[in-house]
Amino acid sequence: MIQSTSPTHKRGLWSSRLGFIMASAGSAIGLGNIWKFPYITGMHGGGAFVLFFIFCIVTVGIPLMIAEMIIGRHTRKDPVGAFRKLNQGRWVLAGWLGIIAGFLILSYYCVIAGWAVNYLWLALQGTFTPEHAAKVPQLFTGLLASDVRQLFWQAVFMGMTVFIVIGGVKSGLERANKIMMPVLFMILVILATMGLRSPGGTTALSFLFSPDWSKLDPPAMLEALGHAFFSLSLGMGAMLTYGSYAEEKTSIPNVAVTVCFMDTLVALLSGLAIFPIVFTYGMEPAAGPGLVFKTLPILFSQMPGGVLIAVLFFLLLVFAALTSSISLLEVVVAYYCDENKWGRKKATLIMGGIIFLVGVPSALSNSMLKDLHFIGGRNFLDSIDFLCTNYILPLGGLFIAIFTGWALTRGLAKGELEKGAVRFHLYPAWHFLIKYVSPVLVALVFLNKAGFF
Ligand code: PHE
Repeated sequence: MIQSTSPTHKRGLWSSRLGFIMASAGSAIGLGNIWKFPYITGMHGGGAFVLFFIFCIVTVGIPLMIAEMIIGRHTRKDPVGAFRKLNQGRWVLAGWLGIIAGFLILSYYCVIAGWAVNYLWLALQGTFTPEHAAKVPQLFTGLLASDVRQLFWQAVFMGMTVFIVIGGVKSGLERANKIMMPVLFMILVILATMGLRSPGGTTALSFLFSPDWSKLDPPAMLEALGHAFFSLSLGMGAMLTYGSYAEEKTSIPNVAVTVCFMDTLVALLSGLAIFPIVFTYGMEPAAGPGLVFKTLPILFSQMPGGVLIAVLFFLLLVFAALTSSISLLEVVVAYYCDENKWGRKKATLIMGGIIFLVGVPSALSNSMLKDLHFIGGRNFLDSIDFLCTNYILPLGGLFIAIFTGWALTRGLAKGELEKGAVRFHLYPAWHFLIKYVSPVLVALVFLNKAGFF
C-alpha cells in the first residue's frame, strides 16, 4: 500500500490510483455500512431516513471528501500538521478534534468488531445449522452478557489492527483488499437477492425506500447526517491522512465520487439483506445494535450451504472492519509520528494500548456496567458512539468545510482539484457546495435538533 518512493517523499505514497481508491473505500466500508446503517434505519422508521441520508452524502459527503483529500495531498501531513502548515493557527482545532474522534471511535469500534470476530469463530465451529436456528437470537444475548468474552474478542481485534498498522503487512492488505471487497459485495448481492425473494421482501423494499416524512424528526435528521460522516470516514481527518499519501497525478474528485458511490451501495445492499429477514420472521426493525447479529445468522442456518456462507460473511465483515480500524489508528499514529517524532512502532503500540483501555467500559456496557446510563438513557458504548457520530464528526466536518470554502486560496484548491483530469465547470460547482451548501446544511441540522425551528 504505502511505498517509500523517493527520498523527498519520506512519508510514502500509495502504489497506484487503484490502491488509493481501495484503501479509501476500505476505510469507508466497514461496520458503519453493515452493522450500523441497518439498525439505525430500523430505529428511525426506514424510507425517509434513507433518502435523507443519501441527500447528505451528495450535498455534504462528496464535497467534503474531496476537500479533505485536497488538503491532505497538498500539505502531505497529519490533520493537525496540515492545518498548521496552511498557516491558519486557529484551524488546528479542527485537526485536534479529528485526532480525538479517531481515538474515541476506535475505542468502541474494536468492541463491535470483536462481536464480529466472535461470530466468525462460531461460524467456523458450524454453529449456524438448521437445528440451531431457534437459538440464534439467544447467542447474541449470551455474548452481551459475558464480560470476559467481549474483552477477549475486543483485545483480539485491537491486536490485529496494531499488527497491521505497525507495518510490513500493509502491501499484503492492499492486495487482499482487491479480492475481499468484490467478494463481500457479491455475497451481499446474493443475500439481498434471496431476501427480496422471501415473503418479507416486498415489505422490506417499501420500508427502505418509500418515505414517510413524518418519521424524519430532528433526531432522525441528525442521525442521518452524522451517519453520512461516520460511514464515509469524514470529519476527523482519515480521508485527509489518506489523501496525504496520494500521487500527484491522481484525480481526487474521481476517487472521492467512486468511494462515496461504493460505500452507499454496500449500505443499501446490507439493508436489503437484513430487512427481508426482519419482516419474514416478524422481528422488530428497531431492535437496536444487535440487529445484524440476530437476523443474518437465521438466514445462514436455513439456507443451503449456509455454514460456508456464514464463515465467508463474517470473515469479510471482520476484514471490512479491519480496513476501517487501521484508518482510525493511522490518524492517531500519523499525528504522533509527524508532530512528536515518535517512531511508528512506538506510536502504534502505545496508542493501541491506551485506546484498548479506553474501550474497556464500552465492552462492559452491556454487562457489568449495564445499569449506567448517559446521553438519553443510552449505555456507555452507545453514548460515545452518539457523541462522536452526531456531534464530533459533523462539527469537524463543518470546520473543514468552512476552512476549505472560505480560507483556502482559490489557486490552491482549484489546482489540486483539477490535477489528473480536465473537468469543465467542476470547480465552481464543488466550491459552491463546500462554501455554502455543506456548512449551511450541517448548521441547520444542528439548530433543528437544538429546537430552534
Ligand atoms: N467508515 C467506517 C465504517 O463505516 C468507520 C470510520 C469512521 C472509519 C471514521 C474511519 C473514520 O465503518
